[in-house]
Amino acid sequence: MPNNKSEKPSEKLAENLADLKSEFVSGIAAAVDVAAVDAVRISALGKKGRISLLMKTLGKMTPEERSVSSPAFNALKDEIAAAVEARRKALEGAALDARLATETVDVTLPVRAERQGHIHPVSQVMDEIIAIFGDMGFSVADGPDIEDDFHNFTALNIPPEHPARQMHDTFYLLEDANGERKVLRTHTSPVQIRHMMNNPPPHRIIAPGRTYRSDSDITHTPMFHQVEGLVIDKATHMGHLKGCLEEFARAFFEVDNLRMRFRPSHFPFTEPSAEVDIGCKRDGGELRIGEGDDWLEILGCGMVHPKVLEHAGIDSSIYQGFAFGVGIDRIAMLKYGIPDLRAFFECDLRWLKHYGFVPSDVPTLAQGLAR
Ligand code: PHE
Repeated sequence: MPNNKSEKPSEKLAENLADLKSEFVSGIAAAVDVAAVDAVRISALGKKGRISLLMKTLGKMTPEERSVSSPAFNALKDEIAAAVEARRKALEGAALDARLATETVDVTLPVRAERQGHIHPVSQVMDEIIAIFGDMGFSVADGPDIEDDFHNFTALNIPPEHPARQMHDTFYLLEDANGERKVLRTHTSPVQIRHMMNNPPPHRIIAPGRTYRSDSDITHTPMFHQVEGLVIDKATHMGHLKGCLEEFARAFFEVDNLRMRFRPSHFPFTEPSAEVDIGCKRDGGELRIGEGDDWLEILGCGMVHPKVLEHAGIDSSIYQGFAFGVGIDRIAMLKYGIPDLRAFFECDLRWLKHYGFVPSDVPTLAQGLAR
């Protein structure tokens, strides 16, 4: 006959622990959410939890008792902790699945007309420019809006005290710890320098982006957009510059026999320099591109000055090329007949609806740039 008295203390302990374990394990299995799992965890492993209290009894045991109890308690503790963790993970996963199931979005549904967004004319025109120059083998480069003096001025052959610095109505940032005053870039030309310093020639890039000058009226905003172009190779000459820009203007304005005029001009970073006008006609309030005998300036360009090449680490006895800078907002206004530049940046949804573009109409040369 089994006799309790004859039962060894270690068997009794094992039995008690097995009871405790099954109690907790069923509690964990029955928990329907993370909070319920947590309640079981606290009742077992919390500061005053039953397993924690058991652990405290170890201190009062004889070494022999402890050598049996300690591994048993620790094993139970680890098992319960693992079971809690597994159940918590499962419940969290189930909660996420349930949420995902209720929050599904059917992306194939048509957009409600009143909810449809529009692409801003500046973004549209940038995409058009990238499509045209991309087709001519240009890649897109970029640089920071906050520039240092070297990239925005000095490397572009505009030394300190040069009057061209005043021309730019520069926004200066406060002096930093080294006494350096950063600027908001006044043009995209510093990207020329950055690209030439970080890549070996030849170069064929455009760099669209934001530019800043302290200037504001109907044709100027303190922030505006330019696209820079740079081509450097061994035999690139002014004829290439002319052909490239004519090709661009015809593709962009979608006028085959667009008249263009290259006027001598001056920029410190190009020599010779030119400004380019396109033929147009002003008819009352209307402006027509490619007709009539009026002229409208759209960009500055020239052959990159040898000093600029040298500043950027290029041997000007081997390499030469051209650069240009186009005002993006300006040609967007011209192409799409938008009268006031300031409206570009007022975030008026009615304006955007009127002048914006449908997102799915990505400009490509094959399909026509804008429909
Ligand atoms: N950076 C000039 C400007 O902002 C434009 C330009 C770029 C002219 C490249 C020549 C060559 O006015």
